[in-house]
Order: sequence, then structure tokens, then C-alpha cells
Amino acid sequence: MPSIGKLEVSRQGFGAMGLSHTYGQADDARSIATLHRAISLGVTFFDTATGYGAGHNEELLGKALADRGDGLIIASKFVHRPNGGGAAVAPIKARDAVEASLTRLGLDHIDLYYLHRVDPDILIEDSVGELGRLVDEGKIGGVGVSEASADGVRRAHATYPLTALQSEYSLWTRDVEVEILPTVRELGIGFVAYSPLGRGFLAGAEVSDPDDRRRQHPRFQPDAVAANSLRRATIEQVAKRVGASVAQVSLAWVLSKGVVPIPGTRHIEHLESNWAANHLELDADSLDALEAAFPRGATAGARYPAEALKLVPAEPVAA
Ligand SMILES: NC(=O)c1ccc[n+]([C@@H]2O[C@H](COP(=O)([O-])OP(=O)(O)OC[C@H]3O[C@@H](n4cnc5c(N)ncnc54)[C@H](OP(=O)(O)O)[C@@H]3O)[C@@H](O)[C@H]2O)c1
Repeated sequence: MPSIGKLEVSRQGFGAMGLSHTYGQADDARSIATLHRAISLGVTFFDTATGYGAGHNEELLGKALADRGDGLIIASKFVHRPNGGGAAVAPIKARDAVEASLTRLGLDHIDLYYLHRVDPDILIEDSVGELGRLVDEGKIGGVGVSEASADGVRRAHATYPLTALQSEYSLWTRDVEVEILPTVRELGIGFVAYSPLGRGFLAGAEVSDPDDRRRQHPRFQPDAVAANSLRRATIEQVAKRVGASVAQVSLAWVLSKGVVPIPGTRHIEHLESNWAANHLELDADSLDALEAAFPRGATAGARYPAEALKLVPAEPVAA
């Protein structure tokens, strides 16, 4: 069983964001059934955030996981100011965010709590220092940061030992390989890979809902989709050769990197199929073919719209 910091977690976690109308409509009853199936399959690591559905996601997770026994690891996240906010917006304190998350989740302890984005106007030392005090008080079990740079990770870790860094990592987003992954490995910090299926693109999913947030993402604009589909064809070829689905191959590649992916889905059948990727070991030829099709930095379209892109680190592309 992989561990991140002192936490033992399942090989894949479950990312719950999409259960709050992010990538198309979600239905609470169906989402709860999917979460329960995740537990019965063996998923023990669940990921939410204060910002997903403005509290809806934490409440849903709290409701679904209540009385489901010990051994589940719950992670949530907060930001001082939504979307960076700007200095004029009064920052939310980590302590207040944690208290609100505990209430919504119906818990008296959250296993892992992340700073969701480093605030441009608040020192990472201040954010992480406050989270560290909440660990010492027993409110949270570990401190995480999301989308911090390698330097930010070092500064945060020097302030209070980090349990995990959560950043985007998948075949079409390999930026972290240059500096960030080597840094967390050197420091013994867990790495949680979010959007491991490229927000569905690397699973072959289509965007159909008019309110789907991916419509705002550069990578999901028609020209980028056309260019990136040529790369995805290699995943399809590998999938055919090894007798697996496109999503399974994409996840198996992330798993081959020794990190913990947290794919999200609203559907039990997708969940079951994704979980089966735990047993898919890709041979060296397949891994080479996938990496040749998705060189770092080659994906068409930025990974976030312009404002959100300012809040994630720009990584050097060269190896
Ligand atoms: N720290 C951060 O800033 C951050 C940012 C983004 C996400 N996250 C976390 O990471 C988690 C996962 O990321 P994500 O939800 O953005 O993207 P993802 O896991 O890469 O992809 C999710 C999308 O893939 C589709 N999908 C999943 N399995 C599939 C399958 N087998 N076949 C076809 N389609 C499939 C899902 O649709 P269906 O629902 O139809 O299956 C959904 O639209 C989130 O839930 C969240 O917890 C964190």
C-alpha cells in the first residue's frame, strides 16, 4: 500500500470534484452510490476542497462517508482568497477554513489539509505555519500544498514538514517531472497526481454539457482538441495492443511513476474500470511510445484559463 507522509493510502484515491457539477451535471444519489462502490473496491483516499461547489462537495462527502468505518483518509483544501482575490479581499484564515470544513464534513479531524493555491500576497511560510499549528492541535493530520513551485515546496517544508504536494500530472501535463517531482522525492514528501485522466481527455471523454467548466479551458478549444487527439491516438494504439481501455492505459502510465493518482468520475462503471488499472503494468515499449507521443510542454493549449494559470507554477520544460 503506498504511503504519503505517515498516511497509508490506496493505490488510487478518488477525486470528488466532479460530483459538484464541474464537468457536467452530477446527481447526489448517483454520486453517493459511486462513493460507496469506491469504498467496497478498496479506495481509502478521498479528495475534496472547500471550493468544490462552494461547500457542496465537502457536505456530500461527509454524508456519503459517515459511518463507513475506520481507515478512510479524507483530504480537503482551502484558499485564502478565491481565484487569487487580490489584496483588497480579506483573506480567509486557515483556522477558520478548517473549522468550516470540519463542520461540512461532519468530522472532528481531517487527515490531510492542503493550501489549494499559494496566495500571491501571503507568504507560504505564514499559510503553512498556521496549518502546522492545526496539526499540533489535532484538528488536521497533515499539511499539504497544491501547485506550489519547487522553491515553494522547500520553503513550506522548512516551515512545517509537508505530508503531500498535490499537482496536476498526467501524460499531457508532465511539467512537474523537471524540478517538482525530484524535489518532493528528495524531501520525502508524498505526491498526489490530480487530473490524471487529463480532465477526461485522456480517457476519451467528450464535453457535451453547455455548463461544463472545461469549455473555458484552452486545451478543450476545438483547435487544441484536434491537435491533442493526434497524440491521444497513441494511447488508443497501446490500449488496443494490451487489451485495455484508453483510460486504463493513461492511469497505468501515471501509476508507473510511483505517485498516487486521484481520478474522478460520477459513474460506477468508470470507477470500476479505472480501479482495474492498478493491475495493468505497461511494458517498456508501451511506456516509451506514450512518452514519445506526449513530450513535456508539447500539448496544445494551456492547462488553465489565463487568470487561473497565474496561480500555478511555470515549470521549465527541458529535462
Ligand atoms: N489541486 C487542484 O488544484 C485540483 C485541480 C483539479 C482536480 N483536482 C482533484 O483531482 C481530481 C481528479 O481530477 P479531475 O476530476 O479534474 O480529472 P480526471 O480525474 O483527470 O478526469 C475526470 C473526468 O474523466 C471522466 N472519466 C473518468 N473515468 C473515465 C472513464 N473510465 N472513461 C471515460 N471518462 C472517464 C470523468 O467523467 P465521468 O464523471 O463521466 O466519468 C470526468 O469528466 C478532482 O476530482 C479533484 O479532487 C485537484
